[in-house]
Amino acid sequence: MLSGDAGSPYMANPARSKLQERTRMETGNTDIKDRIDELRAQIAENNRLYYVESAPVISDYEYDMLMNELIALEKEHPEFVTPDSPTQKVGSDLKRKEDGAAGGRTETMPQTHEFAQYPHKYPMLSLGNTYDISEVEAFAERAGKSLHSGFTYSCELKFDGTAICLTYINGVLFRALTRGDGTIGDDVTENVRRIGNIPQRLHGTGYPEEFEIRGEIYMPYAAFDRLNEERLRDEDQPFANPRNAASGSLKLINPEEVGHRGLECTLYHIPGENLPFQTHDQALKAAAGWGLPVSDKRKICHSISEIEEYINYWDTARKALPFATDGIVIKINELPYQKELGYTAKFPRWAVAYKFKAEQALTKVLSIDYQVGRTGAVTPVANLEPVLLSGTTVKRATLHNAEQMQQLDIRIGDYVYVEKGGEIIPKITGVDTDRREPGTVMPVFPDKCPDCGTTLVRDEGEARYFCPNADGCPTQIKGKLVHFISRKAMNVIAGDATIDQLYSLGYVRTPADFYGLTKDMLLNLEGWKDRSAQRFLDSLEASKKTGFDHVLFALGIRYVGETTARSLARHFRNIDALMAADRDTLLSVDDIGEVIADSILEWFGSPAHLQEIERLRKAGLKFSMDEESAPESSALEGLTIVISGNFSVSRDEIKGMIIGNGGKNSSSVSGKTSYLLAGEKPGPEKIRKARDLGVEIIDEARFRAMLAASGSQAGNSGETPSSEGSPANAGKEKEPVQPTLF
Ligand code: IVH
Repeated sequence: MLSGDAGSPYMANPARSKLQERTRMETGNTDIKDRIDELRAQIAENNRLYYVESAPVISDYEYDMLMNELIALEKEHPEFVTPDSPTQKVGSDLKRKEDGAAGGRTETMPQTHEFAQYPHKYPMLSLGNTYDISEVEAFAERAGKSLHSGFTYSCELKFDGTAICLTYINGVLFRALTRGDGTIGDDVTENVRRIGNIPQRLHGTGYPEEFEIRGEIYMPYAAFDRLNEERLRDEDQPFANPRNAASGSLKLINPEEVGHRGLECTLYHIPGENLPFQTHDQALKAAAGWGLPVSDKRKICHSISEIEEYINYWDTARKALPFATDGIVIKINELPYQKELGYTAKFPRWAVAYKFKAEQALTKVLSIDYQVGRTGAVTPVANLEPVLLSGTTVKRATLHNAEQMQQLDIRIGDYVYVEKGGEIIPKITGVDTDRREPGTVMPVFPDKCPDCGTTLVRDEGEARYFCPNADGCPTQIKGKLVHFISRKAMNVIAGDATIDQLYSLGYVRTPADFYGLTKDMLLNLEGWKDRSAQRFLDSLEASKKTGFDHVLFALGIRYVGETTARSLARHFRNIDALMAADRDTLLSVDDIGEVIADSILEWFGSPAHLQEIERLRKAGLKFSMDEESAPESSALEGLTIVISGNFSVSRDEIKGMIIGNGGKNSSSVSGKTSYLLAGEKPGPEKIRKARDLGVEIIDEARFRAMLAASGSQAGNSGETPSSEGSPANAGKEKEPVQPTLF
């Protein structure tokens, strides 16, 4: 599971020195800061894909390696450590407001929505993790040194799902919150009420009047397979793994639907300072007595050898479990000792997770296909002798690019190791050259597009070959059509098969052709019925309300992903201004570099593309930002504002006010920062840095006054902080924020 965890900063990591050496060699000492920024950006994007979209694109292991590299660099260069670094905070499952705020669309994922959010009584932290048993030994040794006398370990399965925090008041389920950003979580109580093994009311007696209990919600394999079959039947994108299916399902709008998803829960932690128990084990046994779902696979261990025995047993035995696990959690069992060891900002020091490496299978390469994607990138994909891996039969695996093939030194006929990461397509991670038989064939990367025959090109610095025939290569055209209608673009309900059919019959060649389709045309085609045709046409009609930023993303301009499209749309406000922009103007936009600027200029330089824009415009698509998303004022024009702490409204709302009034929100204080906007409990690091750099620190009242002076609505709307009660809760829940563990 890509847990947002880093190996605990206090752990020795043998892989680190190698990473550091590599980083230094690759980037040179002066570029360390750039590498740190790059790693932070990559981790932040992968956190978003994992926690918010429930659709990761890299494996847990790859993610953990990025995080380990960042930890190592920050350790070596503490001057670059910032409190908002992903090494210092847990990954957030909260959806940023801006993700769903585009005109005409209210959500990034149509089936999810924004939940009420409440603060956690105790921060919901993550776990330090390792793939290396010697680090578990080091953990046990450290505990032994600081704890003096006899203590024990509670060894447990690490459930691969999504974390949940339940509050029971007088024995009745009161609230269920997701981990969120660790401080504030999404209120998913109504959905959790539909999960069969979570009791609404506790049994027996002796439970505290009010208490929290935390655990994991997961989707057993059987429910996962059933759900994905259904999704494929409905031409919906299947979930990559049970973890994503669980977190996606937990955030559905419709609790009834959640009830049909077959989710389950196991609880593993009761937080709190004054619990009526001496040990964690006693606490969980009591919870089980009250009818709460607690794992019966736990074991109290007394030594590192018992821990290792437990790990080795479950490394194999877990494969027969009906749900996914990704490791073992080892906790100090005695609560007073847990208290003594305490917490870092991100992890308890009294627990560690040992993660299992992704399962591998060895199989034979039968042939290699070269697949063309929508941007023309050619990806080698190996056809394999079918092999069973983590419960499914694998027949194909990606080889990524020509360089990767060379590095692996792969031949057709070789035996190769296959692994499943977060992606649906497994990948080949190594070749067993000892098993290479005579007669294996060296693969030849084609020099022509396997689809249209155009000579492939490889741009400088690109690992991949591309087919440059963007507007004439059938696979690319179909890929672009699929991208155009995809969920994050125009969100039209249709699958790849529909696109194939409409393309091969010549009905649709460019996105604008979709909007010329009629019901009669569709009903003449094989497989279409009145209902499916109507559903498709309705969804095309609805797509006309899609916001300009999504439309821009849907056009499929190379390198213009969701975030870039949003920046461009916000900056230029309409397509005409974007089309008129020269290179320098494009480069002046946040996050637009030379490669993206050139790609945009090239795209709009094509007469065919300009014609397409005109046809789409005539069809009624939005080519300008909605008025309501125009800046409310230009009060903050030219100002870069960093925020820290809690405010009378959510941090996302504050960010929205900054952007909505023409300012720029940045995550870290630097020489370019105009103001540090500090709410309640601001990060001490940010305050210190602002003071060091002479950046003015303002409070929420002053910020609102700045907006009010320019007549912006936001200046008067939210409540200004008062000395009564916690500003973090004003206008929300009358419950104090209690970050008791910080
Ligand atoms: S204890 C203070 N026990 O793994 C942290 N966590 O990768 C208490 N997890 O955030 C967490 N199984 O969501 C604990 N038996 C277990 C677990 C477990 C799965 C999750 C949990 C945590 C994540 C860290």
